[in-house]
Amino acid sequence: MITQDSIILENIEIAKDIYKMTLQGDFNAQPGQFINIKLNNERLLLRRPISVYDVYEDKLVIIYRVVGSGTKELSQEKVGNTLNILGPIGSGFPLTNNKKVVIVGGGIGVPPLQLLAKNLKNKDITFVLGFRNKEAVILENELKKYGEVIVATDDGSYGFKGNVLQAIDEYKIDFDVIYACGPSKMLEFIDKKYQGYKEGYISFEERMACGMGICYGCVCKPKKLDNGMLRVCKEGPVFELGVISYE
Ligand code: FES
Repeated sequence: MITQDSIILENIEIAKDIYKMTLQGDFNAQPGQFINIKLNNERLLLRRPISVYDVYEDKLVIIYRVVGSGTKELSQEKVGNTLNILGPIGSGFPLTNNKKVVIVGGGIGVPPLQLLAKNLKNKDITFVLGFRNKEAVILENELKKYGEVIVATDDGSYGFKGNVLQAIDEYKIDFDVIYACGPSKMLEFIDKKYQGYKEGYISFEERMACGMGICYGCVCKPKKLDNGMLRVCKEGPVFELGVISYE
């Protein structure tokens, strides 16, 4: 697995506690993959896994939420500083072309959907993005480049009032394939609702430790235990509908 020292080109707050960081380097990331960042503070030993938002020939962009000491530290890094990056890691989203697609994101699960949309050849894409409230809404305009965007908020302060599944029903969105990234409860509901009659892929955002498939700190139980537990960082973070057991 590849590590590289990468210079920070940008690190800005784009919404409350949400930051966008651009890193220099040739990363060749696939949609749905993540990078594992070593923090420069020696007291914070664990790398922090962050999904890839976008990638260009010579740089990679992440969007992350400040939720603890590690991401707080990351948000205080200055342009010109260097970070050690492991990855890109994990199995990404399979690309499905020429099908009607709905792409569902919840909260900080929305950013990795940008690279997915950019790579899909499908012309018929609808995004359904769910957030707590208006203040938490991100990337609505960026994703409009690739298709129609429906925003749902829990409190109704912006867009549709309700959750993403209610929005899919309310707007009668017709689709062949569903892609989703967000809170595990949201993914569970999507999986249970559509498995067996829709093609679909869900990306989990588990807390990770090693990020390399060694520690088994990120496992989830598959329906068929033939090959043992599934590691989100190695076999995932993307799984097909119907693979994970929620029992
Ligand atoms: Fe260690 Fe996944 S984080 S195995």
